[in-house]
Amino acid sequence: MKDYSPEAPFRGITLLSSREIEAMRPACKLSSELLDFLTPMVKPGVSTLELNDAAEQWTRQHGATSAPLGYGGPPGAINFPKSICTSINNVVCHGIPNKKDILQDGDIINIDVTPFFNGYHGDSSRTFMVGTVSPIARKLVEVTEQAMWKGIEAVKPGGRIGDIGAAIQAYAESEGFSVVRDFVGHGVHRIFHAEPQIPHYGVRGKGKKIRPGMVFTIEPMLNVGTYEVALLDDQWTAVTQDGSLSAQFEHTLAVSKSGVEVLTYFPAAVPALA
Ligand code: MF3
Ligand code: CO
Ligand code: CO
Repeated sequence: MKDYSPEAPFRGITLLSSREIEAMRPACKLSSELLDFLTPMVKPGVSTLELNDAAEQWTRQHGATSAPLGYGGPPGAINFPKSICTSINNVVCHGIPNKKDILQDGDIINIDVTPFFNGYHGDSSRTFMVGTVSPIARKLVEVTEQAMWKGIEAVKPGGRIGDIGAAIQAYAESEGFSVVRDFVGHGVHRIFHAEPQIPHYGVRGKGKKIRPGMVFTIEPMLNVGTYEVALLDDQWTAVTQDGSLSAQFEHTLAVSKSGVEVLTYFPAAVPALA
């Protein structure tokens, strides 16, 4: 396959060569493994600070660093003070781990991790159901994960970025949920948040062209009620304006000439037969 010149920008969007994508794989694999590592800890009684500290330790033990830790935020906000984002129930994204947020039976929690390794970022998140959750919470989580996959399936070299949001929005709204506007997917490589922006709503055929070598996230946030969000005083924590539940899933993916590869997706290994 043709190699693109190293990190050649195209209209401000970095296109990665296949060599660069190879160099990015370990960070992406770590993000999946880190979420797998945290999964058994997601139980009633655990604090989000405990999840954060376990994630930070695991990340360092694997020779990586946590990109969120100290990440510069919007003007007026402090740098992000923790290693992962933990967003419970009505928190849309960017929840800050702390010792007072203790998981309870019936909660849903998004855990968003971004290990930085070998000069690259791997950005992925999943929403977990804690114990027994309400039928609407379960439906929201399942539809949000499916919506992310509908967005991923809409990625075609030669297609448009609007195709992604259109697919996500049509599915989410058909199931009665709203799609958050204020946060988008993003280019991700050596830089944590790069061009292009990937809205999770939109119109098919609109937006920039999707080209081989583009690497970006798809990370839809779906709400039970209004899509509008509010920011807490910490300037990071985004919550639903109406207090309704919100869920999110995220993968990092690379566009090739033939299609798309989900760099942070590692299906659970099938146990070998004895
Ligand atoms: N991982 C988040 C994303 O998907 C970004 C978190 S920025 C932080 O883009 F500073 F809050 F960590
Ligand atoms: Co992201
Ligand atoms: Co993320």
